[in-house]
Amino acid sequence: MRNRRLALLLGAFVAIAAPWPLSAAEATPEALVDALNAVFGKHKGLRASHAKGTCAEGRWIPTAEGRALSKSPLFAAEAPVVARFSLAGGNPKVSDKSRTPRGLALHVALPGGAEHDFVLLSAPVFAAKDPDTFLGLLRARAPDPATGKPDPAKAKAFMEAHPDTKVQPAYMAEAPITASYATTPYWGIHTFWLTDARGATKPVRWSFTPEAGVVGLSEEELKQRGDDYLAAELHERLGKGPAAWTVRLHFGAAGDPLDDPTLIWPEDRPSVAVARLEITKAAAPGEKGACDPLMFRPDNLADGFAPSADPILAIRSAAYAVSLARRME
Ligand code: HEM
Repeated sequence: MRNRRLALLLGAFVAIAAPWPLSAAEATPEALVDALNAVFGKHKGLRASHAKGTCAEGRWIPTAEGRALSKSPLFAAEAPVVARFSLAGGNPKVSDKSRTPRGLALHVALPGGAEHDFVLLSAPVFAAKDPDTFLGLLRARAPDPATGKPDPAKAKAFMEAHPDTKVQPAYMAEAPITASYATTPYWGIHTFWLTDARGATKPVRWSFTPEAGVVGLSEEELKQRGDDYLAAELHERLGKGPAAWTVRLHFGAAGDPLDDPTLIWPEDRPSVAVARLEITKAAAPGEKGACDPLMFRPDNLADGFAPSADPILAIRSAAYAVSLARRME
């Protein structure tokens, strides 16, 4: 942690001399979606990010430990789930073999009309610490108007000047390319505040660990896969039985970063298995589903949960609404 903080400090120092402002405070939801469109192109009817994805459904099954932990309706009873598995980025043709994070979005329809959404990634960290840095990163990756092509040197220089943008790619470079959406772990990344059964508020983060284990593909297996194996594999797998994840809440300790989604908490933080996510059915490849017209909202939280001051979390739902409006045009 101390090394990472040092790296961040050094990065901030370098950024002072960089040709772009460190914090231009210009990252509006529209500017972020424009920047995503500039990097990946505009694709009619599709999401500006996580354009490639597949619909699924299942059940949210709280544990006795979850019920004991908090009175949140999220832990009160079993509930149906609309899910969407995806690949990060706005390219609908991205290869399933690429090192881009996988996404999992869940809409849990709780008894009595309450709701809770999860919008998760297969990495415990995000690609930038705040919206301005994310906007700068996207702009540095966009095609140069003069050549029509991205300039890798520009993206590299930006990342050197903003070391927080190097954490997620470093994680993905080491993580296995998974054989299945069902053998992929997912994280909520942001900190949320949980009100526990005694009324105390505690900082928490989510993890979803696949019961089938994390199964990566070898170089040989990767060569044998096409670019679109994930949706077909999930559909076929669920034909034989559900896929499930153990859902844990991890509790932060004094001094743990609360508002920076590029900083991981130490692994030894206490955690409680509060639920089991069971995915029972997935769309056949190319088939539409209930998730397609939906917008999953990272700030759609059941009572008992509140967002932290993480600036990325704060801007996400507004950016998703811009993407939704554009994909409905
Ligand atoms: C400022 C930072 C971010 C921006 C601007 C952004 C932007 C977007 C946009 C525009 C969409 C498409 C929304 C839609 O059309 O419904 C999207 C989808 C998604 N994002 Fe983000 N995102 C950000 C951060 C994150 C983070 C931190 C995570 C994970 C913790 C994440 C995970 C996802 C996932 C899983 C989807 C797919 C949702 C679905 O299947 O409908 N994003 N993002």
